[in-house]
This record gives sequence, structure tokens and C-alpha cells, in this order.
Amino acid sequence: MTGVTVRAPAKINLQLAVGPLREDGYHDLVTVFQAVSLYDEVTAATVDGPGEDVVLVSGEGAESVPAGPDNLALKAATALAQVAGLSPDPDGHLEITIRKRIPVAAGLAGGSADAAAALVACNELWQAGLSLEQLSGIAAGVGSDVAFSLLGGTAVGQGRGEQLSPALASGEYHWVLAVADGQLSTPAVYRMLDQLRAAKSVPDAAAGPGALDNTLMTALRAGEPGAVGRALSNDLQAPALALFPALRKTLNAGQELGALAAIVAGSGPTCVFLAADADRAVDLAAALAGAGVCRAVARASGPVPGVTIVANGLS
Ligand code: C5P
Repeated sequence: MTGVTVRAPAKINLQLAVGPLREDGYHDLVTVFQAVSLYDEVTAATVDGPGEDVVLVSGEGAESVPAGPDNLALKAATALAQVAGLSPDPDGHLEITIRKRIPVAAGLAGGSADAAAALVACNELWQAGLSLEQLSGIAAGVGSDVAFSLLGGTAVGQGRGEQLSPALASGEYHWVLAVADGQLSTPAVYRMLDQLRAAKSVPDAAAGPGALDNTLMTALRAGEPGAVGRALSNDLQAPALALFPALRKTLNAGQELGALAAIVAGSGPTCVFLAADADRAVDLAAALAGAGVCRAVARASGPVPGVTIVANGLS
């Protein structure tokens, strides 16, 4: 068996401005992504003998990751084979092994990370030779956040979130993640936003998603966590709270325990807290774990690079 192992980071959204519902069921976004140091590890390997491609999942929340053709990593691998014009290998099949550390359906783009990881690992395994640009094109077809998982760093996303441009960001940001006891479905959170807007419970989206927050971009360029914290925003926070009201207690607890800022991650239900520095993140994580307002606490810093190859077992 020959295999390639890569790791892919979780993401958080520093700004997530959502426009009105489009005809294709998506919403136009203006978002600022940051990749953070919480990783899934994915191995793509060729196993001798004919058979269906398989996905093996272990680790955090593995039981709720689909192992069949609905698995995003497998979808990504299939799309890559198609674009690269590769025909099925009569002597072997693909085995994708996912070791999860990014919580599932948590607003941290764990599934997208696995898909991005599969693209890089299979491109290498099959010596397909596709460029990052070509992989990004395939990524966008698999999911809105997959292209960012490939790229990493800090980046502005537009369109569905797949049109990316790297953002200038200085410094290192120290995040504490409160993982909720439960999951939220991304489509359900977007639907709830549409409902809240229709009921005028939250401000309506004007013609589009609005503008990139210049205050946030200036704070990122200056590397000032306090100013970044004050500028964090997420249009999906109100619908996530409507669907998962207990998150309000989690957000409040983090703020009372000294976080610079507290926000729901993407479509939730993970809550993320920005700490002033690494030491304060350690203290905040310990205090939050003791407060009993979430299932688990993790620390992560950002920005970190996108998908990276960690072992290449090709002979
Ligand atoms: O692209 P992805 O499959 O990750 O999106 C999951 C769901 O989230 C979509 O089917 C859609 O309901 C919602 N979504 C959206 N607008 C976006 C991204 C996602 O409405 N820009």
C-alpha cells in the first residue's frame, strides 16, 4: 500500500456578512476567513485489489461523518479523478482515512477541511499534477468553504465564499473554542436567517451582502487583537442563537471570564473567544472548561497555512 498523508486546518470567520437568498439556494457573502491550528489528518492510499473506494473515519465525532459517497472527501477525490481524466485503476482502489480533531457540524468547516485534504492527497497519490488554481476550481464545486481550506491564512471570501483573495494580517491571534453539546445544520441556520429577516427580527439584507469591514481589515493589518475583537461580526449568529439558545450563556461566560470578544463560529454551534495573548488563552480555556457551559474546550491560534503534506509514502 502506498499513501500520502496531509493535514487541513479548521477555519473561523472574523466577518460573515450574508446577502439575500439567491435563486440557486445560496447566499452571496462577504467574509473574512482565518485558518486556525486545529487539524484533521487525512491519508489517501491505493489498496491492492478491485473494489469500491472507501472512507474510514476515526476521532472526534467520527460516528456522525457519512462514510459513503456523501462523504465530502470522497466527493472531492471523485471530482479530481474526473477533471484529471483518470480512469479507474483495475488493480486497486482508493482508501481515504480521516482522523478527526475538528468537531463535526460545528461551524469550523471540518468537512470542507477533509475535502481540501483529499484533493491535495489524491493529486499527489495519483501524480495528477494539477495546480493549486485547478484544485481550487474543483474545491468550489464540492463546497463553499473548501477552496479556503486549501489556501489557509487569512483571506477575504466572496460569492458563496469560494472567491478568495488573501488578506494582509499581522501578528498571531489566540482563540479559545467552546465546542457545544450538539450540532447545527448549515442550511437550517441560513434558512432561519431568511425567516428572521422576513419577520423583521433582524435587519434585512439590502441588495447584497454589504461591504468588507474596513475597521476589521485595518485592525488585522496593524495586528491589534483588541481592535480585531471589537470588529468581529457574524450575520449567522442571531439564527444560530435562535436555534440553539443555550449558546448565549456560553458567549456571556467567555466574555465575563476575560475574552476580548466572543462570537459564534460560522453557522455554529461552536463559540469562539479571542484572547489578548497566549497566556490569557490558557487561563480562559481553563476557566471556561470549569464553567460547565460547553462540551469541550480547545485552544487554537491563527493564521496557519492551508492543507499541508505531512508524509509522502510514495515509492
Ligand atoms: O457549499 P456548502 O455545501 O458548504 O453549503 C451548505 C449549505 O449552506 C448550502 O446548501 C446552503 O443552504 C447554505 N449556504 C448558503 N450560502 C452560502 C454557503 C452555504 O446559503 N454562501
